[in-house]
Amino acid sequence: MKTRELRQKFLDFFEKKGHKIVPSSSLIPKDPSVLLTSAGMQQFKEYFLGEPSPYGKKVASSQKCFRTSDIEEVGDVSHLTFLEMLGNFSFGNYFKEEAIKLAYEFLFKKLKLPLKEARFTVFGGDKEVPLDEESILIWKKLGIPEEKIKKCGREDNFWGPTGVEGPCGPTTEIHFGGVEVWNIVFNEYYCDSKKKLKPLKQKGVDTGMGLERLAMVSQEKTSVFEIDLFEPIIKEIEKSSAKIYDKNSKDYRIIADHIRGAVFLISEGIFPSNVERGYVLRKILRRTIRSRRLLELQTNFLFSLAGKVIETYKDIYPELSSRQADILTVIQKEEEKFRRAIEQGIKEWKILSKILSKAGRGYITGKEAFSLYETHSISLESIEELAKESGIKIKDKEGFKKAFKKHQEVSRAGAEKKFGGLGKGATLKAVKLHTATHLLHQALREVLGDDVKQMGSDINPQRLRFDFSHHQKMTEAEIKKVEDSVNEKIKKDLAVKKEEMPYEKALKSKALAFFKEKYPEKVTVYSIGGFSKEICAGPHVKKTSELGRFKIIKEESSGAGVRRIRAILE
Ligand code: SER
Repeated sequence: MKTRELRQKFLDFFEKKGHKIVPSSSLIPKDPSVLLTSAGMQQFKEYFLGEPSPYGKKVASSQKCFRTSDIEEVGDVSHLTFLEMLGNFSFGNYFKEEAIKLAYEFLFKKLKLPLKEARFTVFGGDKEVPLDEESILIWKKLGIPEEKIKKCGREDNFWGPTGVEGPCGPTTEIHFGGVEVWNIVFNEYYCDSKKKLKPLKQKGVDTGMGLERLAMVSQEKTSVFEIDLFEPIIKEIEKSSAKIYDKNSKDYRIIADHIRGAVFLISEGIFPSNVERGYVLRKILRRTIRSRRLLELQTNFLFSLAGKVIETYKDIYPELSSRQADILTVIQKEEEKFRRAIEQGIKEWKILSKILSKAGRGYITGKEAFSLYETHSISLESIEELAKESGIKIKDKEGFKKAFKKHQEVSRAGAEKKFGGLGKGATLKAVKLHTATHLLHQALREVLGDDVKQMGSDINPQRLRFDFSHHQKMTEAEIKKVEDSVNEKIKKDLAVKKEEMPYEKALKSKALAFFKEKYPEKVTVYSIGGFSKEICAGPHVKKTSELGRFKIIKEESSGAGVRRIRAILE
């Protein structure tokens, strides 16, 4: 059965069983403590906690997911970064018995998958959560012999929460050929930010079945990359490479998976950068480029392959067509940028290795390797390769790791500072510019749309600088609209209110947050009239009339898909 039929069969089955079919949510989740949507339940998180669901208590979906934790695993038979997750959910409606029966009926009655080959797991119990005897009994009642039901620990059979806190619980899983295909989670606990479990008021079910894995079993393939969805992509690579799939499957798979992931990430308005989601995109694109080189494919190959991916998916995900031009340009530009970086890096390497051999040194230090990484973005992995080729060792890899950690801490501190914590030495002018930044952020969202996300901010006593995601140059009319909107708020003399509240509450109140940060449980929220609301460390002025006149002095590009505004207060 073709993958598209399987997707439809799943949704039809659960619709007939009284579930409301909900469209996939974006890959960018509502919860800012999570980088990318990695499970179907994320868009329903609050309904597990008892908030009334507008879709009713039983829903099903096919959700776009992206799992950053699996990037390094891609290349084997079953791991993917981007995937479609089929799921059925119950918010305080059915629980273990019905969930297991539904899964059984769908797989073995409806799709007629080979029951003989299926294996099952349940939660085996630990100090906090008991053995899931009930699930064992239900499986046994369905005729599954006990020896096919394995009891496992927290690592394997306990799921959640996504983000810092949320619903979670023991799971039961269905495996074929050693690959987990369906995960059924019994949400009966709430895990708070201190990792303490409390029973949930209402019990729920959250299931997730990777569509590609289901197709692999249904189409009797040995890897997810051999299913019909990947076939045109793999074939396209095979056509252009002298190296065959069977002997080079890892690089084929990396390309096929990552190019698909990249296409979907870009379609959500994510662009390559060195932070957050942009970094994930850059990382997979660069890994793709590396495999492309190993398979001796032409430089513009990825670009045309991306076109194939769009072709395969565009009727199901129309956003791919509307963003086609962006997607192709970003991929092409990133490859070009990477090529230049590598060439420069290799040049530096040659100079460095000459110096080393003159000095009679057969190694470079971790610190030196780090400096190559820092100036040319060559990963430790690539440095290791270059080193191997020239017979040089990297001494003290720990030193590299330490330097890397420090670098991350420094950039995090930098982000916090930019984000709001102007510190005690902040001049009054800088404080005013900071409040103006919040007004600007909201005005941009009003004029250009909610896609506008803060990518960075820098304030000195002379001016503010604000980077945000948007992929066109702003028109003069748009700039004027934004400027006017900010000035109007200044004129209205809106009060700036500071409140402390739990992080979850801040999010619910729709306060804007900076995605990368892990927030403490209690956060400070600044609101300006009813206009702007952001989680921010301050400081700010008390009233907008203190600001004076706001003027945008420059609007320019600051990298792919990122615009930069410089503005002053007169
Ligand atoms: N949330 C669980 C998972 O993603 C089940 O849907 O595996």
